[in-house]
Amino acid sequence: MDVMLELTQENTLKEKVLQENLRVHALENRLYLPRHPEQTNFFQSRVLRNFLNQLDRHLKDSPSSILDLGCGTGYLYLPLLERGHTLTGVDLSDEMIDVLQQQVPQEAKSRSTLLAMEVEAFLATEAQTYDAVVLSALLHHLYDYESVVNKVCAKVKPGGMLMIFFEPLRQKVTSPVRYGLHKSLARLDEAVYKMDMKLKRIPLLEEDYEFSDYQRRFGGIDPNRLVELLTVDGMETLDVEKYCSRRYGIPAFISTCVLKTQNTFNLLARKKGGRLE
Ligand SMILES: C[S@@+](CC[C@H](N)C(=O)[O-])C[C@H]1O[C@@H](n2cnc3c(N)ncnc32)[C@H](O)[C@@H]1O
Repeated sequence: MDVMLELTQENTLKEKVLQENLRVHALENRLYLPRHPEQTNFFQSRVLRNFLNQLDRHLKDSPSSILDLGCGTGYLYLPLLERGHTLTGVDLSDEMIDVLQQQVPQEAKSRSTLLAMEVEAFLATEAQTYDAVVLSALLHHLYDYESVVNKVCAKVKPGGMLMIFFEPLRQKVTSPVRYGLHKSLARLDEAVYKMDMKLKRIPLLEEDYEFSDYQRRFGGIDPNRLVELLTVDGMETLDVEKYCSRRYGIPAFISTCVLKTQNTFNLLARKKGGRLE
């Protein structure tokens, strides 16, 4: 194919992914977390708490300066503020940022900076580095997550931390029987979810995620590929946690602990260098 045509098509697709993220997250706004109980059920809340504790243990300076990319309505941002850190949050969506702004407690306002802009533009223009960079459920929304990861690593101070949280796991299914049961449980979980949202009068946006969740087209994000990219960028991966996320805690627990199936991962890495090395 003609190189110019290929480039034009790539730019059109990239722009479509961005525009769809703007559109979908403008609709999500204050109902984002109520519409996504998979991020707040008891099972996922425990995973989040344990991962934040792990991050805190690795941070050399406490409180620390932390950059939250794709911060949304504050899933990571608010608990990190509560732990006393100084936060900078970046998100494409004015609506998501507005919801978060309203939730920042008065006493934490001086430690909070929120910017409504694309992460790609932020990473290209801002020179500051941070003790930690955190991202929750962002990478699978990006057209070219690999180039973003490369620039994200440059924002971490030597000895600082990178936390990539709650991304869809790209993997090869090795046990069709277990994954058959896993799928049946998923269907039940979704049926309950639809009823629950109806009862709570929360409109669903399911058909709207096709382009905004761009990396799901490829089955999600491969953590092995991420580890490779991070290594090249001078990061040491300390932990990759894989588990099964579901709308509700009980199916998430059964899938993860009984069926031992997975669909989500979290990753913690440290930048080489720094005063303790
Ligand atoms: C699935 S939500 C996750 C929000 C939050 N991190 C959480 O875990 O609840 C993805 C967020 O990424 C933002 N986003 C998507 N593409 C982006 C981009 N190119 N630049 C900045 N933010 C982006 C969306 O606006 C949305 O708030």
